[in-house]
Amino acid sequence: MNSLDRFAQDKLTTLEETHLRRSLVDSFREDGVWIERSGKRLLSFSCNDYLNLTHHPRVKAAAAAAIEMHGAGAGASRLVTGNHPLFAQLEARLAKLKETEAACIFGSGYLANAGIVPVIVGEGDLLLIDELSHSCLWAGSQLSRASVQTFRHNDLAHVEELLTQHRSEYRHTLIVTDGVFSMDGDLAPLAELGALARAHDAWLMSDDAHGLGVLAEGRGAVFATGTKAPVDLQMGTLSKALGSYGGYLCASQPVIDLIKTRARTLIYSTGLPPASVAAALAALDIIESDPALTARPLANAQAFTRALNLPLAQSPIVPVVLGDEMRALEAQQILEREGFLVTAIRPPTVPAGTARLRLAFTAAHPEGEVARLASVIRERIL
Ligand SMILES: Cc1ncc(COP(=O)(O)O)c(C=O)c1O
Repeated sequence: MNSLDRFAQDKLTTLEETHLRRSLVDSFREDGVWIERSGKRLLSFSCNDYLNLTHHPRVKAAAAAAIEMHGAGAGASRLVTGNHPLFAQLEARLAKLKETEAACIFGSGYLANAGIVPVIVGEGDLLLIDELSHSCLWAGSQLSRASVQTFRHNDLAHVEELLTQHRSEYRHTLIVTDGVFSMDGDLAPLAELGALARAHDAWLMSDDAHGLGVLAEGRGAVFATGTKAPVDLQMGTLSKALGSYGGYLCASQPVIDLIKTRARTLIYSTGLPPASVAAALAALDIIESDPALTARPLANAQAFTRALNLPLAQSPIVPVVLGDEMRALEAQQILEREGFLVTAIRPPTVPAGTARLRLAFTAAHPEGEVARLASVIRERIL
């Protein structure tokens, strides 16, 4: 074995021994909720397809029509020749939904965060990040070369303390957080964070990957309290409730203009395929015309948390924290035998000692199955 292969094998052995090795499983998604895996048909509580739009006939038809009209790929970066006309339509629609002047579409949510943050802050600037923020916000933060300080999860007093102590030492300050936390399902206090940002001449960016389409009639976490929170940079993804693929930023015109000319993950990466943009547009049509649909994932999550006496779900994501990795893997197997697909989530995706089942509720989950899932978890796992 050469030294590279030995290095890889040693790493894999350590991961295996600590139950942290991950592997890919072929998953045939039949529709928005049923999955076939290893010959078994399972009801999935692990897809982020909250409105089941990946398989909606209108969404699929829009994607197919876009391929016919514009081809399978964009052919180049948007800054070169890849800027097919569907981008402008989707950007206008997202900006309207999010009440901003403009928007910019990226190749994915991950690419969006990795590209946006380094344009906004750099050396000599301060970046404050919630400790439970998504991996790609961390990636953007690390790429930015700003001085990064972590604040305790949703702890406004800690944010205020850091701003009071350090704001004056830096040129610019950016606060970043998930709007809906991807592994915990709770919401960030965006209105309060926005007020703190204003008071200290800082800027606020939120990641609405899990809020768009499912909170506030689809408008997302920034609107969850009934009024728009003062968030300067509203980032999100087309890959969850919209059932497509791609990322976006909604912000003021000057900020979007700057992003479009400076974000490296936009400039040096091929534009999204036309089918993905067209699918997202069709999904937005459905979301905007059917508020009852957008409310169903949260209603299902709340029925589940009520059945188990857990804190009332704030979003379609509900964690059942089990602690130990082995326990989480065993719980996944118990549920699989009962016909449910619920993937165990282990560190480093979540902090050590908090391995869990992460349940994602969708509009199409049958009520009876939500109740059966709750009773299996109560009787066989907790
Ligand atoms: C909070 C959050 N932000 C960003 C992303 C990345 O989005 P995408 O899948 O479009 O790359 C995810 C998806 O896993 C997420 O959960």
